[in-house]
This record gives sequence, C-alpha cells and structure tokens, in this order.
Amino acid sequence: MENVILIGFMGVGKGSVAREVIKNSKYMAIDTDDLIESMENRRVKKIFAEDGEAYFRSLEKDVASWLQNSVENTLISTGGGFYKVKNLKKIGTIVLLDSPFDAIIKRIKSHPNAAKKLKKRPLLKDLKEAKKLYDLRRPEYLALADIVLDVTDKTASQCSKELLKKVKKHA
Ligand code: S3P
Repeated sequence: MENVILIGFMGVGKGSVAREVIKNSKYMAIDTDDLIESMENRRVKKIFAEDGEAYFRSLEKDVASWLQNSVENTLISTGGGFYKVKNLKKIGTIVLLDSPFDAIIKRIKSHPNAAKKLKKRPLLKDLKEAKKLYDLRRPEYLALADIVLDVTDKTASQCSKELLKKVKKHA
C-alpha cells in the first residue's frame, strides 16, 4: 500500500481524520510533528522559541527523507508547513484537507481544549498573520494535492470514509 500524506492548514483536522482512518483501515499512522518532538525531546512550540522556525523546517526535511526511504503502508499526518519539503510527491499520495479559513478557526474555537490548541501553535498566535499565511499557502496546497477533500462541517468519520473511497479510486 502506498503511503497517504495528509496536508492542510493548522487546525483543519489532520490529526482527527488520521485517527479515524486507522480505526477503519489497514494503514499505520505517523505524525510529522510527533516525530520531531520525539527526536528533539521537546514540544514544537519550544523548538520555535529556542531555535527558530528555520531550524524546525530543517527537522521537517530530515523527517521527509526518512519517510521516503523507510515508511510504507502508512497514513502520514503533517504539520501545516510540511508540504514545502522537496520530496513530498515521492513519499506517497497527497490528500489535502481543505476548508475556508474562518471555518478552520471556528472549528478550533469550538473545541473543549481551544485555548491549548491555539497556544501550542506559534503561527496561530496572530490571526491576521495566520490568515495571510493561509491565503499564501492555499494555492500551493491545491497545486500539490492528488486528492482534495472538503472537510467543512463534516465529522472525522465522514471525512475518513470519503478519504478511503477517494484513495482507492486514485490507486
Ligand atoms: C505549522 C503547523 C503546525 C506545526 C508548526 C508549524 C505550520 O502543525 O508543524 O507549528 O507551519 O503551519 P499543525 O498543522 O498540526 O498545527
């Protein structure tokens, strides 16, 4: 089975969809932020604060080459900026979880752990800046995606079903 890579903006639901997909399929699951936090033994937020974004991006590149060489049959959820690694296409089938900016923010704010979810993401601190980043990235996400999944107002379970159907069709 070829890997499936979930890309999309912060808070769009990559983690929730990934958890649902592994319940209902034979995929293993891995998350690039989790891998980086284990490699570094510190949180993403701390890596940004102590060593800056450029250093974090270099860790994403290391993870990307490891994924390409060593991982298969896996659903890979990624941080919102991971799509910039050069070998993304070589890692597997790219699925974009797509939703308008306002719907994404609404989704995060409606979560019981909203404050924590916002706090752990350095690039979501300033919503005006985050919107600019969203506008910049969305066309790039779309250009890379093999499959686009509109997740607006859908449950993780609905998204997972649609995803598995579309991936099967794409194979
Ligand atoms: C980032 C998204 C975050 C995390 C880091 C940078 C980004 O992951 O990798 O804070 O550049 O969009 P999530 O998309 O899981 O929030």
